[in-house]
Amino acid sequence: MRYNVLADEPLPEEIMDMIGADCQVRVWLAGGPDAEALRATEGLFTYGHLIVDGTLMGRMPNLKVISNFGVGVDHIDLVAARQRGVPVGNTPHVLDGATADMTFALLLAAARNLVPGDRYARSASFTHYDPSILLGQAVGGAMLGIIGMGNIGLQVARRARGFDMTVLYHNRRRNPQAEAELSVSYVTLPELLSRADFVTLNVPLTPETRAMIGRDELAQMKPTAILINLARGGVIDHAALVEALENGEIAGAALDVTAPEPLPRDHPLLRMDNVIITPHLGSATRQARHAMAQISVDNLKAGLRGSALPARIA
Ligand code: 8YV
Repeated sequence: MRYNVLADEPLPEEIMDMIGADCQVRVWLAGGPDAEALRATEGLFTYGHLIVDGTLMGRMPNLKVISNFGVGVDHIDLVAARQRGVPVGNTPHVLDGATADMTFALLLAAARNLVPGDRYARSASFTHYDPSILLGQAVGGAMLGIIGMGNIGLQVARRARGFDMTVLYHNRRRNPQAEAELSVSYVTLPELLSRADFVTLNVPLTPETRAMIGRDELAQMKPTAILINLARGGVIDHAALVEALENGEIAGAALDVTAPEPLPRDHPLLRMDNVIITPHLGSATRQARHAMAQISVDNLKAGLRGSALPARIA
C-alpha cells in the first residue's frame, strides 16, 4: 500500500526522490483535483502557495498531514487544521541566512542604483564615463529599521553590523537576544519609520501585519528612505506605496514579494524606475532549497506514519 500524496505543483526530481516509492504523488492540475483524488489524499505537500482553507480540508477526510515547503504558512488555515487534528509542518531556520542575504542584496541594489546602472552600462547611451551620474545613498553607517525581529530579522541585523549600521527594530515582542548580541534598539513603529534610512520588512503575514505599511506609515518615512520587502506582499498597501513613490514621499522600494504575485503586467509599480522587483527569491539558494526539501519531506513522511513532525507549526 502506497500513501496518497497530493502536491500543489509539479515537484523537482530531488524532492520526488526524497519522497520515495512508498508514496504515490499526484499533482494538482488546472481545475483542481477531482473529488475522489481529494478524498484519497493522506498527505498534502504545498510547494507553491496553494490556499488551503477549511473547505479544502473538509474535502480530504483521510488527510493526515500538511507539509509546507517554506516557513511562511499564511496560505494555510492553521485553526482549521488544528480543529481537524491535522498537523502542519514548515521549514524554519534553514532559510534565514539566505533570506537575510537577499534582504541585503536588495538594500544594496536599491541604494546604489544597481539595476538602472546595469541597464545604462549595456545601453548605447553609455559612451563615456561620467562621475556625476547615478549617485546613490550611503549604506555604511546608515540607519537601518528592521520590522520583524524573528529568525530572519536577527540575521539581517547581524549583516548590518558589517556595514557599521545603527539598527532600530520593531516587533510584536522585544527580542532580548538581538538586543544583547547585536546592540539593536527596540522602538515604536512611528519612531522606526521616521528615523530609518532603510526599512526592511521581515515579518510573517498575519492579521496584525496585513497592510501594516499603508498611507500613514509611508508618510512617516524620510523622503530619502528606501523600503525593502522580503516578507509577503500583503504587508504593504500597494496603492498607498504607488502614491508615496509617485509623490516622492519615499525614495524607492525593493520588493521580493508582491500582492498579487505576480503583479498584473500593467501595474504602475512595474513602470517605476525607483522600484526593484524580484520574483520571490528570498530563500532561493541551492543550499536553502535542499535543506527545505529535506525538512518538508521529513515532515510529510512523519505525518503519514503518524509520528511527530520534526518541524511542526500547528
Ligand atoms: C519559499 C517563502 O520560496 O519560506 C517562505 O515562506 O516564502 C519562500 O522561502 C516558498 O515558500 C516556496 O514556495
